[in-house]
This record gives sequence, structure tokens and C-alpha cells, in this order.
Amino acid sequence: MKKLVVALLLLAALLPAAGCPLTGSRPPATPHESGGEYAECSSCHEGGAGGAPVTDHPRKDDCLSCHPPSTGR
Ligand code: HEC
Ligand code: HEC
Repeated sequence: MKKLVVALLLLAALLPAAGCPLTGSRPPATPHESGGEYAECSSCHEGGAGGAPVTDHPRKDDCLSCHPPSTGR
């Protein structure tokens, strides 16, 4: 019984760190640079140009505020 409680506490502590897999509402980081030919996000992410994943949310301003660049640019 005590082991079960410990296991549940551990699970509760670890889940938030991994994000919520049930809602999946965390914006993915931008895996490429954000300048140069990448500056106009919608040119690829609205139509899927170059194999870009198409956004499944309505168009929003300032993409990078929610999708931080992973390349530091
Ligand atoms: C020249 C086309 C192009 C432009 C412009 C572009 N992207 Fe992308 N983007 C891609 C491609 C191709 C992928 C998938 C391949 C990869 O991982 O690099 C991608 C992947 C992503 C992903 C990951 C999506 C996922 O499901 O994990 C995000 C977020 C993203 N881009 C955001 C942005 C933002 C923000 C901008 C503007 C600053 C932008 N993109 C501009 C082509 C583009
Ligand atoms: C207010 C925050 C916010 C802004 C601003 C925003 N996004 Fe997102 N985006 C999200 C969230 C949250 C998700 C994941 C859930 C979803 O798909 O709705 C996401 C998902 C994505 C994905 C992945 C879609 C998939 O199914 O793999 C791409 C690509 C993307 N956004 C591109 C963009 C682009 C391009 C812009 C700017 C035109 C933008 N986002 C602006 C919050 C945002």
C-alpha cells in the first residue's frame, strides 16, 4: 500500500515536466532558423510548401512568441 502511494506521488510529480500528452496543446519549438528565407512563416506553413507541416490553428501574429526558435535566432 505504501509503495502504491509513493508511485502515485512520483507519477504526479513527473507528468507536468513531460507536458500533457492528453491535450497535446503545447506549441512545438521552431526546429529551423527564423531569418532569411524562413522569415515569412506563413509562406510555408499555410500551404505546406517544401514539406512544412501545415498549422492546424487559425492564423496568428508573431509566430515566434509561441514557437521559440531552437537555433537561438
Ligand atoms: C521555407 C519554408 C519554411 C518557412 C518560411 C518556415 N518554415 Fe517552419 N518548417 C518548415 C519545414 C520543412 C518544417 C519541417 C521540417 C523540419 O523539422 O525542419 C518546419 C517545421 C516547423 C515547426 C515544427 C512543427 C512541428 O509539428 O513540430 C514549427 C513550429 C515551425 N516550423 C515554425 C515556423 C516559424 C515560426 C516560422 C517563421 C519564423 C517558420 N516555421 C517558417 C519550413 C518552413
Ligand atoms: C498563441 C500562441 C501561438 C501562436 C501565436 C502561433 N501558434 Fe502555432 N501552435 C500553437 C499551439 C498551442 C500549437 C499546438 C496545438 C495545435 O496544433 O493547435 C501550435 C502548432 C503549430 C504547428 C504544428 C502543427 C502540427 O500539427 O504539427 C505549426 C507548424 C505552427 N503552429 C505554426 C505556426 C505559425 C506559422 C504561426 C504564425 C503564423 C503560429 N504557429 C502562431 C500556438 C501558437
